Amino acid sequence: MKQQIGWGILGCGHIAAKFASDLSHVADAELAAVGARSQVNADSFAKEFSAGRSHGSYEALVGDESVDVIYVATPHGLHHQHVMLCLENRKAVLCEKAFAINSREAQEMISMAKLKNIFLMEALWTKFLPNFAVVRNMVATGVLGDIRSVLVNFGFIPRQPVTTRIYEPALGGGTMLDIGIYNVFMVLSFLGRPDSIVASMEPAETGVDKQCAVTLKYKSGAFAQIFSSFTTHLPTEACINGNRGRIRLTHRFYSPAADIEYFPDGIDSRQIIPFPQETGFGYQHEARHVCECLRQGLTESPVMTHADTMELMETLDAIRKAAGIHYPVDGPV
Ligand SMILES: NC(=O)c1ccc[n+]([C@@H]2O[C@H](COP(=O)([O-])OP(=O)(O)OC[C@H]3O[C@@H](n4cnc5c(N)ncnc54)[C@H](OP(=O)(O)O)[C@@H]3O)[C@@H](O)[C@H]2O)c1
Repeated sequence: MKQQIGWGILGCGHIAAKFASDLSHVADAELAAVGARSQVNADSFAKEFSAGRSHGSYEALVGDESVDVIYVATPHGLHHQHVMLCLENRKAVLCEKAFAINSREAQEMISMAKLKNIFLMEALWTKFLPNFAVVRNMVATGVLGDIRSVLVNFGFIPRQPVTTRIYEPALGGGTMLDIGIYNVFMVLSFLGRPDSIVASMEPAETGVDKQCAVTLKYKSGAFAQIFSSFTTHLPTEACINGNRGRIRLTHRFYSPAADIEYFPDGIDSRQIIPFPQETGFGYQHEARHVCECLRQGLTESPVMTHADTMELMETLDAIRKAAGIHYPVDGPV
């Protein structure tokens, strides 16, 4: 393996810019090339982030020999197509969330990676953040006791002009795959796969959800409640409640800057738990992990496994079914 791992970015949009900026905090990574649908966009992005090369098509990017791994940063409705393009051209892939539109697409992508023996990981960046690691360890040591409920909200009013993907069914629009996925991830992390789901949504004009409320229930008696919204700004917090204590990840719970508030008795005595902070948006942690995996010759991350991605996608499928959120690619209702 080369001293510097050559990254390619496929799709030069909003999140690609943040990721490109954070790559500068990864010691053994370089932005080798970027690919956009137009040469003009690729050139201006490459200039801004000092990429080695810029390509005016995704096909040209995947054929670039200086690229070892590609970060797929297009809307989720295109992830299947673009991940397949990378894998067919023997490029390792870090694919943005939501990994795919549904679990069928996700399974096809994972099967292709296995068949070709190539690294593929979902960019569930929050799983790699230092504050999340601290919370996960606290829960594992049992300081909260038995986790009896997980309550998570994520809501904001998208900035004008609203980007097409937000409400476009063909691109996987709606809150659930875009932001609700973070809520579901928190629930799965601390309670596992639910035994039953009740969900309801408010449709946008395009039919996708602009608000979605979900209750997830467990045979143990535990509950999770999650709510996602594009119609209101919400306190975007996550509460993990045990029978001995509780934790609140403050607004915005999914970000590297969220505080960890620990209530040892579950009531008033509040402690702020320290964790390591560093500059950047927070995407450097997942990028470093991918570099480590590639250096070890792995084809699957031991942290964000293919099974983790499938559990997340299958839970999202079940929530969408319960709420009546349907995409053209799902097939007949
Ligand atoms: N991890 C996070 O914190 C985070 C945050 C926001 C979004 N995301 C995820 O990242 C992905 C991209 O989100 P984004 O906000 O960056 O989206 P965006 O800015 O609207 O679009 C991303 C890029 O995709 C490319 N693209 C290719 N075909 C397209 C089409 N038919 N319609 C629109 N764009 C198309 C375009 O790049 P070119 O024209 O340059 O090819 C576009 O700039 C989504 O899956 C989203 O869930 C993750």
